[in-house]
Amino acid sequence: MVTDSYEEFKKRVFTLTKIDLNAYKEQQMRRRIDALIERHKLNTYAAFVDAIRTNKELYDEFVSYLTINVSEFYRNPDQWKILENDILPQILAKTKRPKIWSAACSTGDEPYSLVMLLSKYIPFANIKIIATDIDKQILNQAKSALYNEKFLKGLPPEFKSKYFTSIGDGTLQLSDEIKKCVDFRQHDLLKDPYPSGLDLIVCRNVVIYFTEEAKEGIYKKFHQSLVKDGVLFVGNTEQIIKPRNIGFDPFKTFFYRRMDI
Ligand SMILES: C[S@@+](CC[C@H](N)C(=O)[O-])C[C@H]1O[C@@H](n2cnc3c(N)ncnc32)[C@H](O)[C@@H]1O
Repeated sequence: MVTDSYEEFKKRVFTLTKIDLNAYKEQQMRRRIDALIERHKLNTYAAFVDAIRTNKELYDEFVSYLTINVSEFYRNPDQWKILENDILPQILAKTKRPKIWSAACSTGDEPYSLVMLLSKYIPFANIKIIATDIDKQILNQAKSALYNEKFLKGLPPEFKSKYFTSIGDGTLQLSDEIKKCVDFRQHDLLKDPYPSGLDLIVCRNVVIYFTEEAKEGIYKKFHQSLVKDGVLFVGNTEQIIKPRNIGFDPFKTFFYRRMDI
């Protein structure tokens, strides 16, 4: 069991990584961190911080582990159908060059899925997705765009055959025409400035790890980042409580439209 002060650990992690563990749900995060520390046969937070300070590999493992990078193409396909049938037509009626942000994009499955979907309706030259994540390593992985086929199970088959090439061992390489439409950047939702003038923000399966206070701060900033009538698309378990108080109209399950408050 890890015995020393978690408070002190959070401070030292912040100094080292700029990740603010205070904004993440404590019980869940602490359980994960303790398990990692024990797996490395250490028994204090202090010893673990000393170890990540000097061991780059362990540091990278810690950041990746903290940030929980699971993703997949067209995650929750039913919601992508709503996006295609109900949301996109409204956005594309207003602009043929929509400004879209995939926030906490992990391995890139989400922004690349957005490009594929948009390419059915507008030319590649009009598609630019801003895709951000706190984890630099995962962004490098996203840029390389190599995927095991199990992460494509929700993707419409026509996209799979059109945009992926098998390179053996169940690994698929995504085509350059899709890759070129995504602009990957490192960004911390808790402290970095947000882009503005957005027509659509896709932010799924990350706020679930944050405290209520941190979540509310993020939703308020998303509201500011959207154009009027712009849409926020959230994850399966991330419905906003009292969205109207923040200025969001919950007009479809998992989709919120910016109203002016
Ligand atoms: C479970 S993945 C979600 C990926 C994708 N949005 C999806 O739904 O499939 C969560 C991602 O959130 C990122 N993340 C965690 N804390 C973050 C923060 N403070 N700012 C930005 N991204 C963060 C992690 O690095 C991870 O890649």
